[in-house]
Amino acid sequence: MTRHFLFLLGSSRDHGNTELLARKAAEQLPAGVTQRWISLTGHPLPDYEDLRHDSDHVRPSGDHTATLLDATLAATDLVIASPLYWYSVSAQTKRYLDHWAGWLRTPGVDFKETMAGRTLWGVTALAHEEEEVAEPLVGTLNNSAAYMGMRFGGVLFGNGSKPGDVLSDSAALARAKTFFAQEPPLARFPYES
Ligand SMILES: Cc1cc2nc3c(=O)[nH]c(=O)nc-3n(C[C@H](O)[C@H](O)[C@H](O)COP(=O)(O)O)c2cc1C
Repeated sequence: MTRHFLFLLGSSRDHGNTELLARKAAEQLPAGVTQRWISLTGHPLPDYEDLRHDSDHVRPSGDHTATLLDATLAATDLVIASPLYWYSVSAQTKRYLDHWAGWLRTPGVDFKETMAGRTLWGVTALAHEEEEVAEPLVGTLNNSAAYMGMRFGGVLFGNGSKPGDVLSDSAALARAKTFFAQEPPLARFPYES
C-alpha cells in the first residue's frame, strides 16, 4: 500500500524549528512515499462550533476546512508538527483537532472508520531543555490516536528558541534520521497499558 504523509504545520511562524526538524525527518522517507505539507496558519480554520447534539454537521466544501478534511482522509500517516506552546500543542493545531469532533459526526465521511489503523506522528520544538515538560502535548496526541483507533509513532523532539536553533541540536537531528522508520503500535490510553 502506498503511504501518503500529511505534514500539518502548527507554528505561527514559517520555517521555524518544528518545520525544520520535520523536514529533516521527511528527508529520510523512501521514494514512493508521497508528502503533502500544509500550514495551519496559512489555512486558518474557524473556531469549532459544537453542533454535535443539535443537527448533523454538513460536509464542508470550497474552504480551508474542506481542504484539511480531504487531506486528512487521504493520509495514511498524519504528522502533527506543532511547536510547544504553553506545554501543549499550538492553538492552530488544537483548533484543527477540535474539528475532528465535527468530522466524526459528518454524514458520509466515516471519519473514525477511515482513520482507524492509520498512524499519527508528532514533531515538536521547545525552548525548555527537559522534554518531559511536553507531557501534555504527548498525551493529547497519544490519547487522540487511541480514541481514533490509530497507531501512534510518538513525538520527535527538538530544542530551540529562535528559528534555526534546532539545527544545532545534534541529538534531535540523529533521531530524525530514523523517526519515520518505526512501525508504531496501535495507540493505547494510559490506563490500558
Ligand atoms: C506562545 C508561545 C508559547 C510557548 N510556550 C513554550 C513552552 O511552554 N515551553 C517551551 O519550552 N517553549 C515554549 N515556547 C517556545 C517555543 O516552543 C520555541 O521557540 C520553539 O522553537 C518554537 O517553534 P517554531 O520555531 O517551530 O515556531 C513558546 C513560544 C511561544 C511563541
